[in-house]
Amino acid sequence: MSVLVLNGPNLGRLGKRQPEIYGSTTHAELATLCVEWGRDLGLEVEVRQTNHEGVMVDWLNAAADDGHPVVLNAAAWTHYSYAVYDACAQLTAPLVEVHISDPHARPEEFRHHSVVTPHAVEVVKGLGVDGYRVALEVVARSSAG
Ligand code: DQA
Repeated sequence: MSVLVLNGPNLGRLGKRQPEIYGSTTHAELATLCVEWGRDLGLEVEVRQTNHEGVMVDWLNAAADDGHPVVLNAAAWTHYSYAVYDACAQLTAPLVEVHISDPHARPEEFRHHSVVTPHAVEVVKGLGVDGYRVALEVVARSSAG
């Protein structure tokens, strides 16, 4: 089964971006890990990252049309994008929300709300990049049978 891992704004700078919060793994390394973790679970994983909201909406719309499960780290869009909310609402296969940090444990009030959560089968947060492995395990479980 084909699974999309979609990463939103600023996640292309993983490794350089606030490593004390997001760790030292780069986005390229994360993508390789996701493909390997997926292979172990019998999933064909494709990892993408964009800083452009319309591109993300296009990817989510295509995932809805194609019936692909999605692991989504919408990054800052998580907290305010109704375009991402509406796109997630249309998904037809399981959606797993993932965050490297735990937004609820962070001091900024705006991080405490997610437009993705109402549409997600599960939220994985605060586990660093390992959270993507857990999210792929959830996809494998949710899509089985
Ligand atoms: C994030 C948390 C968000 O609050 C933040 O805007 C991000 C990354 C995370 O993975 O921890 O860009 O989604």
